[in-house]
Amino acid sequence: MKNILVTGAAGFIGSAFARYMVKNYPHYNIVVYDKLTYAGNLENLLPISDEPNYRFVQGDIADRNAVQRSFDEFQIDTVVNFAAESHVDRSILQADAFIHTDVVGVYILLDTAKAHGIERILHVSTDEVYGDIHSGFSVETDGFAPNSPYAASKAGGEMMVRAYHITHGMNTVITRGSNTYGPYQYPEKLLPFFITEAIDERKLPVYGDGRQVRDWLFVEDHVTGIDTALHHGKAGEAYNIAGEDLHENIEVTHRLLSLLGKSKDLIKHVPDREGHDRRYAMNCDKLRGLGWKQQFNFTDGLEATVNWYQNNLWWWRKIKTGDYLEYYRQQYAARLAAAEE
Ligand code: NAD
Ligand code: DAU
Repeated sequence: MKNILVTGAAGFIGSAFARYMVKNYPHYNIVVYDKLTYAGNLENLLPISDEPNYRFVQGDIADRNAVQRSFDEFQIDTVVNFAAESHVDRSILQADAFIHTDVVGVYILLDTAKAHGIERILHVSTDEVYGDIHSGFSVETDGFAPNSPYAASKAGGEMMVRAYHITHGMNTVITRGSNTYGPYQYPEKLLPFFITEAIDERKLPVYGDGRQVRDWLFVEDHVTGIDTALHHGKAGEAYNIAGEDLHENIEVTHRLLSLLGKSKDLIKHVPDREGHDRRYAMNCDKLRGLGWKQQFNFTDGLEATVNWYQNNLWWWRKIKTGDYLEYYRQQYAARLAAAEE
């Protein structure tokens, strides 16, 4: 492993991975390949922009010629794929882009990688492929039961990765992460959305009763989990990466309001997300068996995250303009109005 193409790494988790790899593996060349959709942001990569082992290329993983050009130009031997449409609510509004990137894009990336003789491809997936877990903890051999168009598109992408391993003998590894949070997360997901809205004293739209459970994983732990699977994972295998820190949304909301010194009166219970999964929970003994463990608990990670958004208004204020406001209107205007009635 020497020249690594990291796709989708202008986004939240991918950029954390790129920053980590550039600093911790100076003998690897890290090439970030990203389409720069609404969620891609070159400012996430500013901390490494002058490093000699970092390059950026703008491109779509579903564009075979462009992917091939990057493989050739940088003599790529390894791929780590973060590229995805990643927000469940957007997939409910319109799923076209999810099929394009999370299914077709993954197929084209795999097929181009096969033709080029890529040595290893790690594909980043999600706990949402297991579906709603009423009790207990998902293990890697469990079946899939995706419930949102996003989860279904991620499950479809994973199936192609599996097929390319079984049929073509490709050296693939899959990771399935739980709900990830931390600095540089686009302010549409629960934590960065609620933190930035609360800073501005705006209403926090909690879906339904707010008793849905998510397993919170700090982004730096997700990154070290992917690093472990990349270097030590067995070909053809999948590895869960979990925070093992389960909390209800309403509790998370109370905690972030308390850290910010804001009133609970900002909370508004609004009509629920369609097809909303009540609980995700995974067992990650398999990855622990490769030597990984979490370094952050939710208490410390949440405090660090709240502090980061308080100290980096420059990063998120300009995002919450233009197209973002149109998305906000579509997603929340009617819900908030219904909650007022
Ligand atoms: P994100 O939305 O912040 O970033 C996605 C990135 O992919 C953006 O930079 C975007 O420009 C890029 N991209 C989108 N379509 C592309 C295409 N066709 N070609 C090239 N680049 C493209 O997402 P994230 O939260 O950082 O998630 C990264 C990966 O991790 C995704 O695969 C997601 O499914 C998975 N995941 C996310 C979480 C989470 O809680 N955020 C948890 C588990 C797994
Ligand atoms: O579980 C891993 C997944 O976590 C990733 O694969 C996805 O990419 C990522 O977006 C995330 O999906 P969720 O749907 O769990 O995350 P989200 O931040 O959208 O919502 C977290 C919970 O908070 C969920 O139960 C819905 C709820 N919620 C969310 C928003 C944005 C609200 O109550 N109100 C909101 O406005």
